[in-house]
This record gives sequence, structure tokens and C-alpha cells, in this order.
Amino acid sequence: MDIVLSGIRPTGNLHLGNYFGALRNFTKMQYENNCYFFIADYHSLTTHPTPENLQGNVKQVLVEYLACGLDPEAATIYVQSDLPETAELYLFLNMNAYKGELERVTTFKEKAKSQPNNINAGLLTYPTLMAADILIHRSHKVPVGKDQEQHLEMTRTFANRFNRLYKVEYFPEPVAYNFGDDLVKIPGLDGSGKMGKSEGEGNAVFLADEPNVIRKKVMRAVTDTGPVEKNAKKSDPVQNLFTLMQAVSTPDTVDYFNDKFNSCEIRYGDMKKQLSEDIIKFTDPIREKIKQLSADDDYIKKVMEIGKEKARASGSKTIHEVRQIIGFR
Ligand code: TYM
Repeated sequence: MDIVLSGIRPTGNLHLGNYFGALRNFTKMQYENNCYFFIADYHSLTTHPTPENLQGNVKQVLVEYLACGLDPEAATIYVQSDLPETAELYLFLNMNAYKGELERVTTFKEKAKSQPNNINAGLLTYPTLMAADILIHRSHKVPVGKDQEQHLEMTRTFANRFNRLYKVEYFPEPVAYNFGDDLVKIPGLDGSGKMGKSEGEGNAVFLADEPNVIRKKVMRAVTDTGPVEKNAKKSDPVQNLFTLMQAVSTPDTVDYFNDKFNSCEIRYGDMKKQLSEDIIKFTDPIREKIKQLSADDDYIKKVMEIGKEKARASGSKTIHEVRQIIGFR
């Protein structure tokens, strides 16, 4: 039985990128594997050192996890700071993580550019904390989006290094995973790069967005002036719309608009209307569940408590063994 783990930072509501990158099909997987899903509240301090509403944000992610179909009876759903063993493993891994390799990580370089006044040690060692999250349960598979691939490579490096250094076969080599498919990058609506919570207003469609908000965002999505010759190559913003459509619409719908594009008859307005209705249909049950669960504080608290117990049982076993391997008594 594989041990599967994934996490999300509590820095905003979950969007379609989070869903397709890390959550889709998890509902099936949780019954066949030993699954851990956690909320990375320690990690959020690397970019938000004085969070305004950490508790509220953590609760929101938990509600949205559950609304997406995670079952607290089957999977272990917990808050990172409820498993302080993670922090101890992070400390051990940091002793054998080198400045040079950490400085070369793409996300570090990007963050250093975007927050030049707060290039803190936590940001530099973000990959070791992430490795600690994964290795604390000795996980095999890690459902994540494409943007986390390099972090997983670092995790394998740290796991192998630990094994070599202490001459053990203790940690497995965890792999980034998307339910048998390639890792995905869901694009945003602003014509560039990826969907993200901090990419600016209108870029992300959140799972909790109301239908009229979704319509507004999609109708404003960036496109171009339209194809001028048959079977033309799509520009990035238009390709992004098609990629989103592939995620939420039926293959017939995608084919229909592809044909329209290839014969230069496409009307982006029509395509956006269809896309927004398909997103609404897709997110409808999740949105309803979010509303229901948000009102049930007692249940959310109970889920957190159950998750904490289960996570600590696994985490304390690992940290006990790691201490022994290193030579602590
Ligand atoms: P975070 O909070 O940025 O994103 C959570 C998950 O959503 C995926 N994701 C996307 N996937 C596809 N397309 C997108 N546009 C998109 N945007 C976000 C991310 O790849 C991620 O899987 N470092 C992690 C949190 C973390 C973690 C871990 C994950 C901490 N420790 C251990 C897995 C295992 C992060 O910042 O995710």
C-alpha cells in the first residue's frame, strides 16, 4: 500500500489550479492507499510572516478539502503545526542541505525577486521543510502540480543523502504524482503563466466563487484578435482557454471550438460563455458543500482533532527512528 501525501498553503481560497494539480481523483485514491493531506501553515510564514487570520485561513482550506471529497475517516487530514515532529525533521535535514543547492531552486529565485525585503532563511530552506512534510510519513507519492516538480527532486536528494550518510535504507524516494497522468499546470485567465492566488485579481477561478463572479472573470479573460488563416497556431492566451476547457468541459465541446478555431469561425465570446457555464457546472457541488461545511464549526474542529492524532502517531514513530539512526538517545 502506497503512502500518499500532499499539502496546500493556507494563503487564500482554493482555485481550479489547486484542484486539478493536487486534488482531482484523490477521492478514489484515499480508499486504496494510506493518504495524508495537510495544511501547510508553517510554510505560509515564509511569505506572510504576520498572518492576519491564520486560523480562519486554515479552516477555509480544511472546509475546501472536505468539499472536494476528502474523507476524514479514510485519509488523514491535518494541520502542519499540529505535527511539530515535522519541525524536528526539518532541523535534521537542514544540517545536510547546502546553501548552493538551495539558492538554485527556481521558486526561491522567484520569491527573492518578488519580496526583496524579506529574503528570509525560511524561504531559502522552503524545500527542506517540504521534504520534512513528505518524509515524516515516509511517503511514496505526492500529488502536486507541475510547479512543485523541482521541490520533489530536492526531496529525493535529501532522502538519498540521509540514507547514504547514515548507511540505512530508511527513506523511500518520493515522486511527484498526478493520478497516472502527467503533472499539470492550469493556466490563469490573464493570458500569462499559471493560475495562482497571488497573481492578481481575475486570474484565478476559486472553487467558492459564485456563478456570476465566474461568468464575469471568464468573460474578461485575455484572448487575441482571432485566427487569420486556417489551422493557425494558437497564441498563449487562447491556448490557455482551451487548456481550461479541456479540464472542465466534455471532449465534444473542446472539439467543437477547436474546429471553429481551425476554420477561422471562432467567436471567443461564445467560447467563454460555454467555458463559464461548464466551470459553474463543475464547481456547483463543491460550492454547495463549502457553504454547508463552513457553518459547521464543531465538525471542522473534530476533523482537525482526529487528523492530529493520526498524523502524530505516524510522525512520532518516524522521528523516534530518525533520532536513533543519527545517534540520539
Ligand atoms: P500551493 O499552496 O502553492 O499549491 C497547492 C497545490 O496546488 C498546486 N497548484 C497548481 N497545479 C496546477 N496548476 C496550477 N495553476 C496550480 N497552482 C497550484 C500546487 O502544485 C500544489 O500541489 N509547496 C506547496 C505546499 C506544500 C506541499 C508540501 C505540497 C508544502 N509541503 C508537501 C506537497 C507535499 C505549495 O506551495 O503549494
